Amino acid sequence: MVRLSLGIALAATLSQTVSAAPINDTEAAAAPVAVSSSFLGGLFDFLDTANLTVTHHEGKLYGCKCSPGQLCWPSQSKWNSLNTTVEGKLQVHIPPAASCYNQFVGPLGTVNTYDAAACADVHANWENESWTVEKPGAALWTYFTNETCRPTMNPSDTCTLGYYGVYTITATKRAHIKAGIDFARRNNIRLIVRNTGHDFIGRSTGAGALIINTHSFQDISWINKYSGPGSYTGSAVTIAAGVQGRTILSAGHAQNPPLVIVTGECPTVGVAGGFIQGGGHGPWTTLKGLSADNVLAFEAVTASGHYVVANEQQNSDLFWALKGGGPAAYAVILSVTMKTFPDVPSTGATLYINDTHIGYDNDKYWNATTIFHKYATHFVDNGLYVYFELFPFTLRARPFVAIGKTVAELEAITAPMFAELDALSIPYEWTPKSFPTFFDLYLDLFEDEASGGSALTGGWLFTRDDVTNNNDGIIDAFKTVFSPAPGVFSFIVGHLFNPGYGKPVSNSATHPSWRNAANFVITVLPVPIGASKAEKASLQNVLTNTIDQALRDSSTSGATYVNEADPYQPNWQSHFWGSEYPRLKQIRKKWDPLGVFYSIATPGTEDWEVIQDTRLCKKL
Ligand SMILES: Cc1cc2nc3c(=O)[nH]c(=O)nc-3n(C[C@H](O)[C@H](O)[C@H](O)COP(=O)(O)OP(=O)(O)OC[C@H]3O[C@@H](n4cnc5c(N)ncnc54)[C@H](O)[C@@H]3O)c2cc1C
Ligand SMILES: *[C@@H]1O[C@H](CO)[C@@H](O)[C@H](O)[C@H]1NC(C)=O
Ligand SMILES: *[C@@H]1O[C@H](CO)[C@@H](O)[C@H](O)[C@H]1NC(C)=O
Ligand SMILES: *[C@@H]1O[C@H](CO)[C@@H](O)[C@H](O)[C@H]1NC(C)=O
Ligand SMILES: *[C@@H]1O[C@H](CO)[C@@H](O)[C@H](O)[C@H]1NC(C)=O
Ligand SMILES: *[C@@H]1O[C@H](CO)[C@@H](O)[C@H](O)[C@H]1NC(C)=O
Ligand SMILES: *[C@@H]1O[C@H](CO)[C@@H](O)[C@H](O)[C@H]1NC(C)=O
Ligand SMILES: *[C@@H]1O[C@H](CO)[C@@H](O)[C@H](O)[C@H]1NC(C)=O
Repeated sequence: MVRLSLGIALAATLSQTVSAAPINDTEAAAAPVAVSSSFLGGLFDFLDTANLTVTHHEGKLYGCKCSPGQLCWPSQSKWNSLNTTVEGKLQVHIPPAASCYNQFVGPLGTVNTYDAAACADVHANWENESWTVEKPGAALWTYFTNETCRPTMNPSDTCTLGYYGVYTITATKRAHIKAGIDFARRNNIRLIVRNTGHDFIGRSTGAGALIINTHSFQDISWINKYSGPGSYTGSAVTIAAGVQGRTILSAGHAQNPPLVIVTGECPTVGVAGGFIQGGGHGPWTTLKGLSADNVLAFEAVTASGHYVVANEQQNSDLFWALKGGGPAAYAVILSVTMKTFPDVPSTGATLYINDTHIGYDNDKYWNATTIFHKYATHFVDNGLYVYFELFPFTLRARPFVAIGKTVAELEAITAPMFAELDALSIPYEWTPKSFPTFFDLYLDLFEDEASGGSALTGGWLFTRDDVTNNNDGIIDAFKTVFSPAPGVFSFIVGHLFNPGYGKPVSNSATHPSWRNAANFVITVLPVPIGASKAEKASLQNVLTNTIDQALRDSSTSGATYVNEADPYQPNWQSHFWGSEYPRLKQIRKKWDPLGVFYSIATPGTEDWEVIQDTRLCKKL
């Protein structure tokens, strides 16, 4: 039996098994576009960037990142020297469930991995978010890993790497992040940044990649009176890259007086990683805007390997782009400084309407859902945030969040909806409850979710105008989501909020339609384990062209959310960023002109694609 963490033995095995892959490439021939630099060694000096590898594929010419097994792949001694620079934090990446298999057949070689105790731990924790977050490269939503190494009771099955990265650096210092970026740039290696692994669409994993894990950055420092550039002089907090939502809210609760920031509803999502680079919405969003709207400064390491501060004065273009302009596209964030707010007594509630109440009466279900959704605009205009799920015969709104409001105030806001439900004799269960602080509500009413599931996800943002003018059309689109094709089922996770209410000073790189939001939904389309390539393509087609198309058609002034959307949707540029897109693309070109970073459907990645299943390439 060989334990999972057998890095050294593995490295020894690997160096013997590496051989040139049968790929028709011209090594080191595609020179990167020349990038001028004002001074050598400066922020925009990319002269040490390795050339892409020229590849012919389906009659087209590509410049590719180097893949394991190719002659251009760095020698063992180069990897060892990187490991020395990062003080031993470099590991060959083995998927978490490899311990349930006799062998892991990786791109660098084959190793024995079976370990009964470790495998039992895998089975016990596969759906445990926190356990998965702690793994250096694991994805919580596994579809985009290619599902090649799930827990098994049959050790003779084969565990392969799928679309996971090849090496991880568990960075604990700024210098480790710089070393990883420099190594990837100088050796033409695909680079991935991974914080909590929550990304729905595989942006924190990638075949052939070196992964920099930022989750160990856990510092939190409170600022009584912000004195950086800009007019804001209130309280703030600097949060290191790896801190998760519940961690920062717990730390804020321990302050005197208790403080909050705008985090996600999800306790385990990070704050300063992909979340804020997508915009970041949560229970405080209706009152205080998106998380990105609340940023005062970032610290980051650039594609050229330089440490920078970005705020209103310094590197202000980068500052703006990092606030919602797309994850892992401009720099690696080390920390974010955000506004804080005093916590306040709040009211939460749950609303259930399901078969317990209405049986399997389709009319009652859709009438109830139509009424609930019609009030989205009214709720957000009155300062509420509501997280809800829609399945056939199940409307589960848990929770309604009324920050700073009493039970009586929440009852008054919701009374017209209940009057309509009552008029149709639709039963429901409604349980409001007051809490001494928002944080108490958050711990009580928000739930951890399961990891390890295989699904495609899409989504759409419905504006206030869309809900006002076409609620029935939106509900028809929801019906399509439930049964988009024969034998196919998908469901909805929704969030009623409006980042425009309460007039947050929005100067972030998010789609202007957010400022008029009423409901943002995620569509979830489960994918059977073991689906063939053709079955996956067919489900992807259903998501893009039936499910999300129905939502788009019902809501013409809407948008999509960078972090919770189908990456293959048409016109992702304008759906994600609207009129902000051209400026973001320019900023990308300035800060990462040669594509050191890559995550799917982010500014400036139009020419990049994965070919031959695992190779990240640029069309030449
Ligand atoms: C259960 C669940 C609940 C969620 N709830 C919410 C919610 O309430 N509100 C909301 O807005 N979103 C929510 N999301 C979506 C969330 O915003 C995205 O999954 C986001 O990508 C998570 O960012 P992360 O850094 O934690 O995750 P990761 O998967 O580690 O990273 C996501 C992306 O960010 C990049 N990245 C990570 N760290 C850095 C860094 N330091 N510098 C540069 N790039 C970096 C990665 O390369 C990747 O592209 C939820 C997701 C899940 C799975
Ligand atoms: C490699 O690609 C080139 C250009 O398409 C082609 O001429 C050549 O025959 C290919 N070589 C092999 C070994 O496939
Ligand atoms: C990149 O390509 C250019 C032009 O073909 C060549 O002159 C240069 O030496 C190459 N650089 C590397 C590091 O291979
Ligand atoms: C990096 O060094 C550490 C400490 O010496 C070692 O445990 C690890 O296996 C090394 N990683 C690789 C990929 O060789
Ligand atoms: C989930 O994993 C974390 C981290 O490994 C662990 O502390 C926790 O106890 C686990 N939860 C459950 C329910 O097993
Ligand atoms: C990904 O999965 C498909 C099956 O859906 C398989 O054909 C392909 O070989 C896999 N690729 C990798 C790199 O795991
Ligand atoms: C239906 O609602 C009841 C509360 O009335 C709740 O206990 C139950 O879990 C709900 N069922 C579903 C499937 O959500
Ligand atoms: C639902 O609403 C429709 C009108 O939109 C009505 O005809 C029908 O009777 C209602 N069903 C129930 C169960 O109330």
